[in-house]
Amino acid sequence: MDKFRKILCIGAGYVGGPTMAVIADKCPACQITVVDVNEQRVHAWNSDELPIYEPGLKEVVERTRNKNLFFSTDIEVAVKEAGIIFVSVNTPTKTFGEGAGMAADLQYWETTARTIIEYAEDDKIVVEKSTLPVKTAEAMHKILESNTKGIHFEVLSNPEFMAEGTAVDDLRNPDRVLIGAMQTEAGQEALRRVVDIYANWVPREKIKTTNVWSSELSKLVANAMLAQRISSINSISALCEKTDADVTEVSEAVGMDSRIGSKFLRAGVGFGGSCFKKDILNLVYLCGHYGLPEVADYWEGVVKINDFQERRFVKRIVASMFNTIANKKIAVFGFAFKADTGDTREAPAIYISKMLLEERALLRVYDPEALENARKDLAGFEEMVEYADDPYVCAEGAHAILILTEWREFKTLDYPRLFESMSKPAFVFDGRNILEHKKLYDMGFNVYPLGSSDMTRV
Ligand SMILES: NC(=O)c1ccc[n+]([C@@H]2O[C@H](COP(=O)([O-])OP(=O)(O)OC[C@H]3O[C@@H](n4cnc5c(N)ncnc54)[C@H](O)[C@@H]3O)[C@@H](O)[C@H]2O)c1
Repeated sequence: MDKFRKILCIGAGYVGGPTMAVIADKCPACQITVVDVNEQRVHAWNSDELPIYEPGLKEVVERTRNKNLFFSTDIEVAVKEAGIIFVSVNTPTKTFGEGAGMAADLQYWETTARTIIEYAEDDKIVVEKSTLPVKTAEAMHKILESNTKGIHFEVLSNPEFMAEGTAVDDLRNPDRVLIGAMQTEAGQEALRRVVDIYANWVPREKIKTTNVWSSELSKLVANAMLAQRISSINSISALCEKTDADVTEVSEAVGMDSRIGSKFLRAGVGFGGSCFKKDILNLVYLCGHYGLPEVADYWEGVVKINDFQERRFVKRIVASMFNTIANKKIAVFGFAFKADTGDTREAPAIYISKMLLEERALLRVYDPEALENARKDLAGFEEMVEYADDPYVCAEGAHAILILTEWREFKTLDYPRLFESMSKPAFVFDGRNILEHKKLYDMGFNVYPLGSSDMTRV
């Protein structure tokens, strides 16, 4: 087999797993291996219980696994065999030293580069799939080229734009695939090879090729702009609550302008997920590094509004429940950072729950997919937090229900039954604006939609 049909992906996480499963599905002529240092994760990918939940993922994995898709911990053999190596390891925010709390921690990425040097025996194309600061490819190129075996590594950037919860659909029908390459002959040849993989199912006009630096930066900017829209509408939700305007109406009215568009314009308790905050902070750090403090401040505002929105939500709960929630039972509906995923990384639910616990509330959490992660996120609070695998059990005896994730099933619950089982007065704080507020009010609930006036009788 042509060595460029042997593809390796280092990092079997939320990006590496689904991305490679879809490539394997769409390119039967390629042989794909996904490796990880985390043995448990690799074992899960090889079992019936995949390590992550994504609609449609199980079917794709079952179709391709052990045919042209393999999950392994044997990095050495996989590096030796592959012609193209995607690197999809985590790049969290640095927690120590220079740039702590802002810059990307590139230790996993550099370790990977050194592993590639150690085992490689011939020239390879190395593709950055992780989200990285602009100019990382340059550093990577230098590390890889420091090998003493005379091997040439061509570094490309191919950031991933899929969203959790819709990963499989996004990967099958992407808005665009972005691939950045050096403007050299070797760079352009490597680019053609990677374009050819995607062209198996992505129309050529949707495959955007750029220089490496534009590609790296575009990923950070895309996430910053998406998050900026959420913070923009969330900032307006605070104003709506003061002025009897309704943020849903404002959002719809504004979004009908075709120059603005309606997507990513729903107010809520804030954005979460492993990427938005980290990527914006990384952008902020880069702007500071390049002597652009005004630009850094502009983007930092997006994160500040997100923190403000979470704090504001908790303040409204405490204020409306008679200024104390100590020892009151609160049912938390939804812990994942968004619907259709079990991922809770940076979920607003974590920060909101911790603020409620500081107020000494007693929490009971329900989420259809994220309870296991929620337990880890709230470790240490076992005496004050319970977990329920049924929403009706979750709300029994509670003073309030909080909607923190927009799971569809929350719209169709039997609210009269929930109301009956709760302590009175019963409150609903709809942090995602997905419920029928007037109906709930008529049932007897005190209803607090996000970004519009309270509907309350107390
Ligand atoms: N999660 C998303 O929705 C998303 C979307 C687009 C881009 N990204 C970016 O993709 C990258 C990966 O994100 P993720 O969510 O898949 O992370 P993840 O934490 O789910 O997965 C990363 C995996 O890499 C493994 N790993 C780390 N160092 C390794 C090494 N030296 N050798 C082998 N394996 C190693 C880890 O064990 C882990 O399983 C990040 O840069 C992220 O910003 C994520």
